[in-house]
Amino acid sequence: MKVNGVYYHSVWADFENKEILIINQAVLPFRFEIKRCKSIDDVVVSIQNLQVRGAPALGIMAAYAVWLSFATHNGQLDRIEKDYRTLIQTRPTAVNLKKGADAVFQHISQLSNEIDVYQKSQLFVNQELIALQSIGLHGVRLIDEVYRAKNNPVNILTHCNAGWLACGDFGTALAPIYEAHHRGIPVHVWVDETRPINQGARLTAWELYQENIPFRIISDNTAGQLALRNEIDMVLVGADRLVKNGDMANKIGTYLKALMAYEHQIPFYVAAPSSTFDFSINSGNDILIEERNPDELLYITAEFQHQLIQAKLYHEAFPALNLAFDITPAKFISAYITEKGIFRNISEVEL
Ligand code: MRU
Repeated sequence: MKVNGVYYHSVWADFENKEILIINQAVLPFRFEIKRCKSIDDVVVSIQNLQVRGAPALGIMAAYAVWLSFATHNGQLDRIEKDYRTLIQTRPTAVNLKKGADAVFQHISQLSNEIDVYQKSQLFVNQELIALQSIGLHGVRLIDEVYRAKNNPVNILTHCNAGWLACGDFGTALAPIYEAHHRGIPVHVWVDETRPINQGARLTAWELYQENIPFRIISDNTAGQLALRNEIDMVLVGADRLVKNGDMANKIGTYLKALMAYEHQIPFYVAAPSSTFDFSINSGNDILIEERNPDELLYITAEFQHQLIQAKLYHEAFPALNLAFDITPAKFISAYITEKGIFRNISEVEL
């Protein structure tokens, strides 16, 4: 996507300089900053601090990271394996991270030089980007159907950030929205703030603003009232892991949106590439939910007098629990949008 007229991916690699570059998502929308990762330590810090985040972007980062490890350790397999093990433990819920790392690491002993390893990582990245674009092309049909029926802008609720920043390009949940906008289908997006670190209000809003797509930020508690007023036509979210019985993990708060949508008979769609599906797990109960530092609840990143500050929101002695994701049971999901099409039931999904 373009930022101020320049085309960017949110994660990319510089083969000559042996670097992975990311748009630093931790400082948006206050600063537009490119961060250079020159080692696995840089990669791990970027992932842990959510400078790069979102399931498909984590997969892309991990695929490049295995190449970076090969390049910085001159192909020494024991050191690459150590980096791989560290990498796949950085964030446990989004399966894409391990899939991206595996796509390169599983072939590492057969790849003799750095160019071959790089090409392997780039192959994974290219496949991901094509998949994300296809999600947009399939998902737009659902938006178009609503527009044809109501002949007024389609009101879409989204949670967290599932746009191009979170994916390398295009997005998962936002891909159909971009496609609708490009086709002239009028849309209006309700952007959940997404506490505690506000991926919606900071990142989704920034993306939509760049593209001139109408939106409004709402607090995470607002959607129920909007549903009562018939102001939500559909809910469109991404996923971090989709398992065999159709349950899924996504950003904390997604489950409440699904419950609300079910009660109000609002379609609840999940958009995700094949790399987010993990049929080795039977049920959502078995997905490991990442628990993050409660300081993410206590402090908020804010801009004050042109400086980025960490503002304290309450007394530091107050205990808190910071679950990063929740599980939405399959019964609340109206359809899965993947690169292969739209599937109403998990048993029909083609991978
Ligand atoms: O903790 P995050 O910001 O990495 O969580 C991301 C999400 O939950 C997204 O909704 C998910 O990855 C969807 S696909 C971009």
